[in-house]
Amino acid sequence: MAEELLVPTDTDRATVYNALFPQIQALVETESDLIANLANISAALKEAFGFFWVGFYIVKEGQLVLGPFQGPIACTRIAFNKGVCGASYSQQKTIVVPDVEAFPGHIACNSASKSEIVLPVFHRNGTVAMVLDVDSDQLDDFSEVDAAHLGKILKLIERKL
Ligand code: SME
Repeated sequence: MAEELLVPTDTDRATVYNALFPQIQALVETESDLIANLANISAALKEAFGFFWVGFYIVKEGQLVLGPFQGPIACTRIAFNKGVCGASYSQQKTIVVPDVEAFPGHIACNSASKSEIVLPVFHRNGTVAMVLDVDSDQLDDFSEVDAAHLGKILKLIERKL
């Protein structure tokens, strides 16, 4: 496998996602272990974009339980009806929050987090298996570009669930 990630610098986010995708694909398609793949996806996104926090919350024991992540320590368990992660889980859709202070019920694991995007990852039967949470220390840091490209990366995981 590749030993280091090649990330173009001084360019727009879509270009970086496009450069990243085949590298993440190569990592995920040659590894069968789910946790190993979630760990490398978190690391690749953190390294490529310098996001404040990137990680997965996995559906387990009737709640969302912290999985592989990169960044500061975080809340370990989130109820299905709490926070942005819970909203993404229960509404089964991607949620972009430009200003976390303005999102009712946002869970502040760290006060440095200013905006976030959360995407659900689906089992083949249509239920949510986990969510990907990406947090930024900048306001309004996520758009449809992130939603589309992160969704494409998560399809690599969905195919293996
Ligand atoms: N902010 C999230 C909680 C998880 S952490 O930020 C890592 C939420 O409101 O669901």
